[in-house]
Formats: sequence, structure tokens, C-alpha cells
Amino acid sequence: MAVPAPRSKRLIWVGAIALAAVLLALVSVVGSTPAACSSCHRASAEGLAATAHADLGCYSCHAPSPGAVVAFKANELARMYSSQLTGGSVEDAPAVRVGDSAGRTCHASAIDAIEPTVARGLRILHSACAADESCVSCHAVEGHGEATRTPKGPSMGACVDCHTTTEAPITCEI
Ligand code: HEC
Ligand code: HEC
Ligand code: HEC
Ligand code: HEC
Repeated sequence: MAVPAPRSKRLIWVGAIALAAVLLALVSVVGSTPAACSSCHRASAEGLAATAHADLGCYSCHAPSPGAVVAFKANELARMYSSQLTGGSVEDAPAVRVGDSAGRTCHASAIDAIEPTVARGLRILHSACAADESCVSCHAVEGHGEATRTPKGPSMGACVDCHTTTEAPITCEI
């Protein structure tokens, strides 16, 4: 068998690198669709479908900026895929924290309002009550409803604790 000349060896390398780049691009683009995420995260996807956020893509909340998408993609490739392939499970995932930026951008009118927001039988003034707290400390279930692993909602105790140590009223009116 003839030994390949150095030139054709180089061509093989160039071909292999190009193929790897195309595969990586394919995994990045196709693997970023909600359908691809849902193939491993079925419970989360079904939970999302039952909420008011059903029409959003996964990155809207989990990676809401180009920089965040790059970091999230690296996490998917390095940790999620390898964990799945080696018998890991999405239930073993470390606790995830969704940042505030998507919520602050989409809901600016509610959180900056000078009048309290009234919704679902509760009344709150976000600009005073939630200025230093992350959205998920009261809204963790907005992403996946009952499928949320660490569900957290607003707690009356926390409202009253703060309202009694500030000038805020503690009377109840809706
Ligand atoms: C091949 C299966 C697979 C695909 C596809 C996949 N994941 Fe995951 N994901 C996992 C596994 C497994 C874990 C748990 C990883 C661990 O235990 O370290 C995980 C963990 C997570 C977590 C928990 C937090 C974290 O960083 O570990 C989030 C959020 C998440 N995935 C979102 C997504 C989104 C959004 C997509 C689509 C862009 C996606 N996943 C695609 C398998 C997958
Ligand atoms: C409206 C915002 C939003 C969208 C859209 C969204 N998520 Fe989430 N996701 C959340 C929130 C909030 C949590 C809870 C994390 C927390 O408490 O910080 C979460 C948690 C998760 C977790 C960890 C499991 C858990 O319950 O803690 C996974 C996995 C996940 N999401 C996957 C997805 C996938 C897959 C999609 C797309 C099909 C998606 N998410 C779309 C907001 C969202
Ligand atoms: C970290 C402290 C803090 C927490 C926690 C907090 N609040 Fe407040 N709240 C305030 C402050 C300060 C004001 C502004 C009082 C003022 O300027 O009159 C306020 C004002 C309000 C107002 C407007 C009152 C009015 O009539 O103008 C409502 C309604 C309200 N809070 C409801 C809630 C509810 C419900 C919760 C719990 C889910 C909550 N707050 C949690 C500090 C807090
Ligand atoms: C201290 C708890 C608390 C924090 C922190 C908090 N919220 Fe709220 N939020 C509430 C309560 C209570 C309501 C009224 C009841 C409900 O809709 O769950 C509410 C209602 C809302 C609504 C109206 C929902 C509707 O159906 O009209 C939006 C939008 C909202 N919050 C966005 C945010 C965003 C974005 C953040 C983070 C910047 C945030 N909230 C942080 C307690 C909080």
C-alpha cells in the first residue's frame, strides 16, 4: 500500500477539521431549538407549555444575551450531553438559578410602576418590595409551573417581616 504523500495527509487533516466544525455548528444550531432541549427535559417542557410563557424559547430565560448563550452552550456540550451519555439524569442536575435580566426587560412596566401591581388576588409594589430581591425568590414557578423542582412563591411572612421594620403599611387591602 502506498504511503500517502505529506500533501494528501494535510488534506485529510483539513477535511477532518472542517467536518468537525460542521458537526459542531449543526449541534449548536439544531441543538438550540426548544424541541432539542425538550428531548431530554420533557417534564420542564411540559410544565412550560402550561404557563403564560409557553411561546418562549428556552434561551429567552436561561440565556437571555448573546454572551449567556455562548456560556450556556458550552455547559450543554461539556456537561449535559456527556452526563446524559454516561447514564446521568436531568433529575441529578445541580440547582439552577435563573437571573433577573429577562424578567426585568419584559416586565419593566410592572416592576417600575409607581402604583402597586394587582394580580391573582395579591397586591405588591415591586419598586419598593422587590428592589433587592431576585425575581425567582417569589416567581420560581413562572417558568415551569408544577414541574419546577424548587418551587418558591411570595410568602406572607416575608412581606410582614419587612413591612413591620420599614414605614410600609401592614393593613390588608386589595
Ligand atoms: C442530551 C440531553 C440534553 C439536552 C439536549 C439538553 N440537556 Fe439540559 N441537562 C441534561 C442533563 C443530563 C442535565 C444534568 C447535568 C448534570 O447533572 O450535571 C441537564 C441540566 C440542565 C439544566 C440545569 C442547570 C444546569 O446548568 O445544569 C438546565 C437549566 C438545562 N439543562 C437546560 C437545557 C436547555 C435550555 C437545553 C436546550 C438548549 C438543554 N438543556 C439541552 C441533558 C440535556
Ligand atoms: C419564562 C422563563 C423560562 C423559560 C421560557 C424556560 N425556563 Fe426553565 N426555568 C425557569 C425558572 C424560573 C426555573 C427555576 C429556577 C430557579 O428557581 O431559579 C427553571 C428551571 C429549569 C430547569 C431545572 C429544573 C428545575 O425545576 O429547577 C430546567 C432543566 C429547565 N428550566 C429547562 C428549560 C427548558 C428545556 C426550556 C425550554 C423548553 C425552559 N427551561 C424554558 C424559567 C424558564
Ligand atoms: C424588603 C422589604 C419589603 C418586602 C419583602 C415587601 N415589601 Fe411591600 N413595601 C415595602 C416598602 C418599603 C413599601 C413602601 C412604603 C411607602 O413608601 O409607603 C412597600 C409598599 C407595599 C405596597 C404599597 C402600599 C400602598 O398602598 O402604597 C404593597 C401593596 C406591598 N408593599 C405589598 C407587599 C407584599 C404583598 C409583599 C410580599 C409578597 C411585600 N410587600 C414585601 C417593603 C417591602
Ligand atoms: C417579594 C416578592 C416578589 C419579588 C421579589 C418579585 N415579585 Fe413580581 N409579584 C409579586 C406578587 C405578590 C405579585 C402579585 C401576585 C402574583 O401575580 O403572583 C407579583 C406580580 C408580578 C407580575 C404581574 C403578573 C400578572 O399576572 O399580571 C409581574 C409581571 C411580576 N410580578 C414581575 C416580577 C419581576 C420581573 C420581578 C423581578 C425583577 C419580580 N416580579 C419580583 C411578588 C414579587
